[in-house]
Amino acid sequence: NNLNIITAESYETLSKMASQFIIDEVNSKPNATIGMATGGTPLQMYQLLQEDYKQNGTSYCNVTTFNLDEYVGLAKDNPNSYYQYMKKHLFNHIDIEQNNVFIPNGESKDLVEECNLYERYLLEKGPIDIQILGLGSNGHIGFNEPGTPFSSKTHVVELTDSTRKANARYFDNLDQVPTHAITMGIDTIMRAKKILLLVSGKNKSNAYEQLLHGKISEQFPVSVLRNHPSVHIIADMSSLESV
Ligand code: GLP
Repeated sequence: NNLNIITAESYETLSKMASQFIIDEVNSKPNATIGMATGGTPLQMYQLLQEDYKQNGTSYCNVTTFNLDEYVGLAKDNPNSYYQYMKKHLFNHIDIEQNNVFIPNGESKDLVEECNLYERYLLEKGPIDIQILGLGSNGHIGFNEPGTPFSSKTHVVELTDSTRKANARYFDNLDQVPTHAITMGIDTIMRAKKILLLVSGKNKSNAYEQLLHGKISEQFPVSVLRNHPSVHIIADMSSLESV
């Protein structure tokens, strides 16, 4: 099939490979547009990008970034907003221009308009050269939960209980986890030229197995990647049960 699978023997190796993938892109195309993901999986990759910036000076001054998603209703300065996540883990440490950073505004008074605006920015500044993705244990990408149409553009979603519970570890309690988010749609993600999917964690074993061997279905969002011409998957085999 079309999936280029790269196996890593540890989370650290996955992170090194993923950061190198981004560094190579930025070196060969200094004005690249990169799609960013949040969550636990890319954390060490971001750490390594910071280290590379310090040591080798890879410059991001002409790079544009688009984040996949953002919670609805969290203030920008809330530590659990993806806006703060990106600042803390990457943007505060590299020479990226604030004007070239795009993250959906989950505080917008008109969320539908915000989604349309985000799509417009993507059309203007895109296409995305590399879209980084994590994997939800139910097969979600971004916040596109099972059942999301493959034709979807940036939209507002109601988070499933399982996704809220999975992300509750960052909040004081489950009640504080937002119920809604803005996410790039499946079609939005599929317009990226290259996809880099990072898979790490025992709870991802079933989803990974289903991605490789199951059928392509809107009930299992990540399966859409089997229709994409350039997908690179880095799988941390130390964390995945034999698949
Ligand atoms: C969240 C994010 C996804 C992410 C997923 C997996 O729901 N919206 O973009 O891929 O979690 O996160 P983790 O890497 O922490 O397992």
